[in-house]
Amino acid sequence: MDNRPIAFFDSGLGGLTSVQELHRQLPGEKVIYYGDTARTPYGSKSPDTIRRFATQIVDYLVSKNPKMIIIACNTATSWALDSLRERYPDIPILGVIGPTVRKVVSDGCRKVGVIATKATIGSDIYGRSLKALDPSIEVYSLALPAVVPLVEEGFTDTKIMELTVRHYMDDFVKDNDFEDLILGCTHYPLIAGHIRSLYPGIRLYNSSAEVINEARELLEERDMLAENSELTDRYYASDLSDNFIAMTDLLFAGTDFKIKFVKLED
Ligand code: DGL
Repeated sequence: MDNRPIAFFDSGLGGLTSVQELHRQLPGEKVIYYGDTARTPYGSKSPDTIRRFATQIVDYLVSKNPKMIIIACNTATSWALDSLRERYPDIPILGVIGPTVRKVVSDGCRKVGVIATKATIGSDIYGRSLKALDPSIEVYSLALPAVVPLVEEGFTDTKIMELTVRHYMDDFVKDNDFEDLILGCTHYPLIAGHIRSLYPGIRLYNSSAEVINEARELLEERDMLAENSELTDRYYASDLSDNFIAMTDLLFAGTDFKIKFVKLED
């Protein structure tokens, strides 16, 4: 048994979709979350900047003594997972990409689309990781750079978002006949409704959720699940935007939590 919290972070509110899945699978676990809302999006930033921001956040989260850290951001996983594991070898640090890739390969997918930020697609981490496990798999990748800023601005359930998705994806779906699609950004489960109704029949893989399956297995294996923890979930943000507060209230209504502004610097 281990009642310490599980720490999550993302460039903004996307990683809250991972926390939602944690609450669904392991309601007894407590959470600390950092959303770097002042510096979102990460997807258009350079690898060095992404690593620097991710390191600042993880240094802060480690000061709260978590039992595990989940990088609830594909972009930060792409560019910072290895260096963060080197920096904190004694804390289990999970990225969202490995669990998703393992699930897609174990399901026997043959033709796989990947949508993600520019930085994640630029790293080709999904293509490389999928082909490392199954060299015959076909991978089609696409960046959707306007989606994260629109989600952060609260445009999720709007016509503007639907048109944005179509602008990027209509030709991509038409020209590449994939059957499965990885939502390679933790903001994208929030637009999954648009994708499902625009492109019915494509099976979606959700990186926000897959990481929680592996987190649960690891906690069970190491006997580290929480029991009757009296901690309160805490959501920190580098800018308390109205939308971050509204989204937290919406996703976690009925649970006990606190939200706080925390600024990080070098
Ligand atoms: N949720 C982050 C991801 O999974 C968004 C990155 C961004 O801020 O552009 O990649």
